[in-house]
Amino acid sequence: MSKTYSEGDHFKVRDIGLAEQGRMKMDWAESRMPVLMALREEHSKKQSLKGMRIAGCLHVTKETAVLVETLAAAGAEISWSGCNPLSTNDEVAAALAQAGISIYAWYGMNTEEFYWCIDKTLEMKPTLTLDDGADLIFSVHNRHPELAGTIIGGTEETTTGVHRLRAMARDGALKYPVIAVNDAETKWDFDNVFGTGQSSLDGILRATSVLLAGKNFVVAGYGHCGYGCALRADGMGANVIATEVKPTAALKAILHGHKVMCMDDAARVGDVFITATGMKDIIVGRHFEVMRDGAIVCNTGHYDCEINLEDLEEMAVSKRTIRDNCEEFTLRDGRRIYVLAQGRLVNLAAAEGHPSEVMDMSFANQFLSMVRLAEEGKDLEAGVHDIPEDQDQRIAGIKLATMDAGLDVLTPEQVAYLDDYAAGT
Ligand code: ADE
Repeated sequence: MSKTYSEGDHFKVRDIGLAEQGRMKMDWAESRMPVLMALREEHSKKQSLKGMRIAGCLHVTKETAVLVETLAAAGAEISWSGCNPLSTNDEVAAALAQAGISIYAWYGMNTEEFYWCIDKTLEMKPTLTLDDGADLIFSVHNRHPELAGTIIGGTEETTTGVHRLRAMARDGALKYPVIAVNDAETKWDFDNVFGTGQSSLDGILRATSVLLAGKNFVVAGYGHCGYGCALRADGMGANVIATEVKPTAALKAILHGHKVMCMDDAARVGDVFITATGMKDIIVGRHFEVMRDGAIVCNTGHYDCEINLEDLEEMAVSKRTIRDNCEEFTLRDGRRIYVLAQGRLVNLAAAEGHPSEVMDMSFANQFLSMVRLAEEGKDLEAGVHDIPEDQDQRIAGIKLATMDAGLDVLTPEQVAYLDDYAAGT
């Protein structure tokens, strides 16, 4: 991997010469993100974010670039970093830098560089933070607590981040209000299910080109993301096996037509494994010990702790990169296990992340939450706040209008009937 960079007073990216390709990717994404583009038109006139300084830490993709330029069009000053060492699209990062956005992000950075980039974005002393995985908020709280006093509020994109922020709020440790974008229906019911489903399978196929039909496809975790992966693998003819710790989720998987097993049993029969749990040590040494020769293992959860690669490294007698994002580990008895994208988010590291059409709704929620925080953040208490129901319905309504869908409307008599407890058989 190249170790050269392009640096300027407001950016550090892999190669600023990639800007033109990045701009074309962004044009493509814009044409598939009508909700965000409608918001851009409305709020660039209103300048709703004028005076706001937004530090963002979220995967640098073509879709994120559309969000960044929408925030900037609404008057905000922006400083951005990626939220995963392997998810930045270098072409898009270059295009944003070329357009004058402060950005510190490149594909393949190490942990030290990851935090250096976050710290660079905090030099602007933000009034708002925008997170995916909460590393920016944690950095403010743990390493730059002096900044928390002037931050009006923040947003969090993902399940894992919201979970941890709620824990922080319960302990009284969260110093400012954070809106849980993840918990909006227009986020988790679409992005988490259909976005993760399609992009994770896309990553697996780009990294392996394997035939899925007839394969045993093990999905660890049957939450929204796991459900999405199962749905798409099933659609391609795989035999889906789910592993779970939660009885209701396991039941759901069975009623969706899948087998449910504990991982100790699934490890013996799986051909492809994907973890989507948000929990560490889902696949560990004793599982690798019994896997079939040729098993493919990957993760689509936010952090890279779901597959215990240290265990696998210890067990392997050799290792080679056999394809992009595909490492072959050979064990003592000759069995080969293939790990995709170093156990990091396979959908972003080996593919392009969720399609623009679903990110349109998630990022409309991000954008409107930033506007809400700019307007009323000072009145919100420190803690985790939900997206208002009317925002969810408004975003879904704009999206629907772009999809040639007709929507019925209840008559006043029907509305009254809803609450009519005198009506019966
Ligand atoms: N998370 C998953 N897919 C994404 C995308 N395309 N852009 C930004 N964040 C994402």
